[in-house]
Amino acid sequence: MNKLFITGGAGFIGSAFVRMLLDEAPGYEIINFDALTYAGNLDNLDNLDAKRHRFIRGDIANRAEVLATLDEGTDAIINFAAESHVDRSIASADEFLRTNIIGTQVLLDAARERGVKRFVQISTDEVMGSLPEDDAAFFTESSPYEPNSPYAASKAAAEHLVRAAHHTFGLDTVVTRCGNNYGPRQFPEKFLPLMISNALRDEPIPLYGDGRNVRDWIYVEDHCRAILLALEKGRAGEIYNIGARNQRRNIEVVETVLRLLGKPTSLVRPVKDRPGHDRRYAIDPAMVEAQLGWRPQETWESGLAKTIEWYRQNAEWVRRARSGEYREFYAKQYGMEVGSV
Ligand code: NAD
Ligand code: DAU
Repeated sequence: MNKLFITGGAGFIGSAFVRMLLDEAPGYEIINFDALTYAGNLDNLDNLDAKRHRFIRGDIANRAEVLATLDEGTDAIINFAAESHVDRSIASADEFLRTNIIGTQVLLDAARERGVKRFVQISTDEVMGSLPEDDAAFFTESSPYEPNSPYAASKAAAEHLVRAAHHTFGLDTVVTRCGNNYGPRQFPEKFLPLMISNALRDEPIPLYGDGRNVRDWIYVEDHCRAILLALEKGRAGEIYNIGARNQRRNIEVVETVLRLLGKPTSLVRPVKDRPGHDRRYAIDPAMVEAQLGWRPQETWESGLAKTIEWYRQNAEWVRRARSGEYREFYAKQYGMEVGSV
């Protein structure tokens, strides 16, 4: 299983996974296949070992490009590539359907045609919808599918296609479902890097609705270690829910970040709620812990400190991410300008 075809490896989690493999798992060679959308960033792949990592620009929904790249030899596909931002899916679902659904099916077909040994689909807890605010319920692997946003619906559809490829054609598949990742190199449209980037520049932080929505946060490298275990030891046809038992209300997250940065809470700007905003996510990771022996290594405190430090040290990365298309997105989404960059 040493030749990996990793899609979406120029994005936030994919690039963290590539780095982790190169640092900690010497047996793997990587083809990193990424379309470089607004969220893909070659800066995320600086200084990688060129003997074990090769980048190819390509689109997972393009069968010919995928097949040509697989012909270079692939033992396993790990599919990170996706349109990943809920707010963008509410504005327009087109690209979400093309990449997240059609793209996944193209990869599954190509995997079958080329005899790829294992297919790992990186999915999300959002396929299971929303939990009530004040109760003890958790998402488990047998929770029903109840996707609420176009993004979540497209990821649920992708999971169904993966299941069908396993059931009908016997493809060896594993699905991982994680909650909210945080860490270095996350595009600043997502809430945590948005609040850190804005706070560092004394810009307002838009908080949706009453700010009491709950997310279950996990440091990105902990997620990546669980994916590696799923690749190496996961049972064929299985789904693994991955979470660090770390539920936080959005308002608590903002207040913690502002305190750590020494910035005033007056930067928080309540704005109109996200339509269909899921209230609470909470993952029961008992299965991935018991079957694969996974445990998170970072605490919320240590992971947040590392994340904040990375954004402090990488002002140029942030400046580039916040230029160009991001400025238009931000103005349309929030009705305010991104500060001068
Ligand atoms: P991201 O938006 O940072 O990166 C997505 C990457 O996919 C980008 O590099 C982009 O260029 C690439 N891409 C998009 N369309 C493509 C296409 N058609 N062909 C090839 N490449 C394409 O996303 P992320 O946050 O790193 O998420 C990675 C995966 O993990 C996604 O599948 C997402 O659904 C899932 N996930 C994310 C989180 C999270 O908190 N960020 C949590 C659980 C699951
Ligand atoms: O749970 C896993 C999912 O987590 C992944 O599948 C998605 O790809 C990822 O984007 C993330 O989805 P969320 O919608 O939870 O993440 P986001 O960072 O967009 O928002 C986190 C919370 O913060 C959510 O309750 C909405 C709120 N929010 C978000 C933004 C962007 C705000 O209050 N203000 C904002 O400006």
